[in-house]
Amino acid sequence: MAGEARAAAKAVETAEAYYDSHDADSFYAIIWGGEDIHVGLYEHPDEPIATASRRTVAHMASRLSGLTPGARVLDLGAGYGGAARYLAREHGAQVTCLNLSEVENARNRTLTREQGLEDRITVDHGAFEDLAYPDASFDIVWSQDAFLHSADRKRVLAGAARVVRPGGELIFTDPMQADTVADPAALKPVYERIHLSSLGSFAFYRAQLQALGLEDAGSQDMTGQLRNHYARVRAELLDRRDALKGEVSDAYVARMLEGLAHWVNAADQGLLAWGVIHYRKTR
Ligand SMILES: C[S@@+](CC[C@H](N)C(=O)[O-])C[C@H]1O[C@@H](n2cnc3c(N)ncnc32)[C@H](O)[C@@H]1O
Repeated sequence: MAGEARAAAKAVETAEAYYDSHDADSFYAIIWGGEDIHVGLYEHPDEPIATASRRTVAHMASRLSGLTPGARVLDLGAGYGGAARYLAREHGAQVTCLNLSEVENARNRTLTREQGLEDRITVDHGAFEDLAYPDASFDIVWSQDAFLHSADRKRVLAGAARVVRPGGELIFTDPMQADTVADPAALKPVYERIHLSSLGSFAFYRAQLQALGLEDAGSQDMTGQLRNHYARVRAELLDRRDALKGEVSDAYVARMLEGLAHWVNAADQGLLAWGVIHYRKTR
C-alpha cells in the first residue's frame, strides 16, 4: 500500500475505534445531547449546546436551493443522524447516512425508528473515502465536521463530486486551519488530539472543488463560532463532570479537557477556521 493510502486507512481505523468507544459514545450522548456532534451557532455564549447545534443544521438547510420534498441527500460522516432526521422531517428529504461507527449507526437507526422516519432514512456503514454509490445519484451531498478525520480529503471530495448530480449541491462544515498558518507545527497539539497531521482549510477546499468543476454557491466563513463552541463544550464538561461518573472514564475526561483547551487556545491565536462550504456541480 502506498504511503498516502496507508495513512488514510490508519485514520479510518483510528476514527472508527474512537467513535465506537463507550467513552466517546457516552460523552457525545450526555454532553452534546445525542443528536448532533458539530459546532453550534450561538446567539449567546451560554446557550445549550443542543440548541446551538440544531441551529447549524437549520442554517445549512436554509442555504440549499435544491432541498425540495423527495430530494436525495447523502450525509457523509452522519454520526447519530440528527441532521438526517431534521432534513427528512422538516423538508421531506430522502436521506442516506454514511458513517464509520456502528455504535453511532445503531443509535441513529433507533432514533430514526422512534421518530417514525425509517421510510425516509437509510443508514449505511462505511468510509467516505470509498463511496460505493453510483455517479450522479444524489441531489445534495452534506457533511458536518467529519472531513477533519480523513487523511485523504482530496479523495473524499472527488467521491462527493462524483456522486452528486450535475446542478446538485455539496454543502459541508469542517474545523480547519486558517489560510494564514505558515507553520503547521503551531497546530501540533490540535492535530495530536485528532491523531492526524493536517487539517483542511478554506483555501484547500476552494482549490480542490474548483479543480473538480464545482462553483461556489455562497460559502461562509463563521470562524468565531468554533471558539464559542469548544469553550462552551469545555465549560459544560467541567460543570457536569459528575453526570459522567461511571459512564465516561476519568482519563477520557482529562484528555478531552486538555484537547478542548488546545482548540480554544489555537482559535484565540487565529490559527483555526470554520464555516459553511457550499458548492454547486456545474457539469
Ligand atoms: C464530529 S462527528 C460529526 C457527526 C455528524 N456529522 C454530526 O454533525 O452530528 C464526526 C463523524 O465522522 C465520522 N467519520 C470519521 N471518519 C469517517 C470516515 N472515514 N468515513 C465515514 N465517517 C467517518 C465519525 O464516525 C463521526 O460520526
